[in-house]
Amino acid sequence: MTNHVLITGGAGFIGSHVADELLRQGVRVRALDSLVPQVHGPDRRRPAYLDPEVELIVGDVRDRDAVKSALRGVDAVVHFASAVGVGQSMYKIAEYTSINNLGTAVLLEELAAKPVSRLLVASSMSVYGEGLYRAASGAVVPGASRPLEQLKRGDWEVRSEAGEALVPIPTPESKPPSLESVYALSKYDQERLCLMIGRAYQIPTVALRFFNVYGRRQALSNPYTGVLAIFAARLLNDRPPVIFEDGLQRRDLVSVTDVARACVRALGADAAVGQVLNIGSGRSYTVREVAERVRDVMGKSGIEPEIVGKARLGDVRHCFADIGAAQQKIGYAPRVSLEEGLRDLADWLEGQVAKDAVAQARAELESRGLTV
Ligand code: UD1
Repeated sequence: MTNHVLITGGAGFIGSHVADELLRQGVRVRALDSLVPQVHGPDRRRPAYLDPEVELIVGDVRDRDAVKSALRGVDAVVHFASAVGVGQSMYKIAEYTSINNLGTAVLLEELAAKPVSRLLVASSMSVYGEGLYRAASGAVVPGASRPLEQLKRGDWEVRSEAGEALVPIPTPESKPPSLESVYALSKYDQERLCLMIGRAYQIPTVALRFFNVYGRRQALSNPYTGVLAIFAARLLNDRPPVIFEDGLQRRDLVSVTDVARACVRALGADAAVGQVLNIGSGRSYTVREVAERVRDVMGKSGIEPEIVGKARLGDVRHCFADIGAAQQKIGYAPRVSLEEGLRDLADWLEGQVAKDAVAQARAELESRGLTV
C-alpha cells in the first residue's frame, strides 16, 4: 500500500477527486499543478474545492526542479497534468505536444533516477478514434472512420465500403489505436512512455483510458472542456446547448466518483501492473439525450438544444467502453447511474457561475477550417 502520493494536475477536476479518495483512505497527498488560467481563471488561485490536507506545489510538470521537489518523499505518482481539449489541440499543436509529451518525459527522467513503487497515468478513450463496429454480416470492424467528403454531405454515420451503416459495439483495449487528433496522439504517447520506462526501471505502471468523465468541479468556463460541462455552462446562462452533427453520436459518460475509485484501486492492485484499462460506465448515451437530461435536471425544460448539423474535425461518431478488463484486473464496477450523477451535478451547479465562451471557441475552430 502507498503512503504518500504525488498527483500531477492534482488541483484539477479528476485529480482533486482522486485526492479526496486517497485522503479518505489515510494516504498523504501532494499535488503539482500549474493552475492554468483556462481552467482555474486568471488569478490562478488554489481552488476552494481542493481539500486543505492536500499539499499544493504550484509548478509546471515540464520544470525539472519543480518535479524534483514534488517527488521528494512520495512512493507513488498519479500523472494527470495535461492539456485536454481535443479541438484546441488541432491548432495549439506546439503547446499540447509540449505540456503532454515533454511534461511526461521530464517526469519520467526524474522517476528513472528515483523510482517509486507505483505510477498511474491517465490515458483517454480518444486513442481509439472510432470505437468498434459490427457489420450486418456479424463481422467486427476495427478500423472504421468517416471520409471528409461524407461529412460534407451531412452523412454522419460510419459506413462500410458498400455504404451500409455499421452498428457500434463496446470497445475493448485490444482495438488498435487510431489517432485522429494531436490530443489523442499525445495521450497515446503518454501511456506508451510511462509503460515503457516503467518496465525499464522497474516502476510498476498502469495506464487508465478514461471515457467521458463528468461531475462536480468540472471547469465550466473552459469552452474546450468535455461536452457535459459545456452544456451546463450554456444552460446556466439560459442559452441552448449547441449540438454538433445530428446529436445521435454516442458516448460513455462516467461519474468522476467512479473514476476516482478506479484510480485508487489501480494504485493498489498488483494485477493492474503493466496494463492498459478502460474506465467508463460501460453504457452509452446519445449527445442529444445528454443535452436534454442535463437541461431537465437543471430545471430549464423550456430551452431546446440547437442542432447545428456541422461536425468538428477529429471528432469520432461513437465510442463506448468494454469495461471487462478493469472488472477483472482491479475489481472495478461503476456504481453511479447517469440519473444520480446528473442530480448530483445539478446540486453543485446551483450557485456556480459560468462564463459562456462557446461561441468564441466555435469561431476559433471555424476560422481555421476545423469544422465541416
Ligand atoms: C472527451 C474529452 C477528452 C477526454 C475524452 C475521454 C474534452 C474536450 N474532451 O473527448 O479530454 O480524454 O473525452 O473520452 O474534454 N459536442 C457537442 N457540443 C459541444 C461539445 C461537444 O455536440 O458543445 C459533441 C462532440 O461533437 C462530440 C461529443 O459531444 O461528438 C463529445 O465531445 P467532447 O466532450 O469534446 O469529447 P470527446 O471528444 O469525446
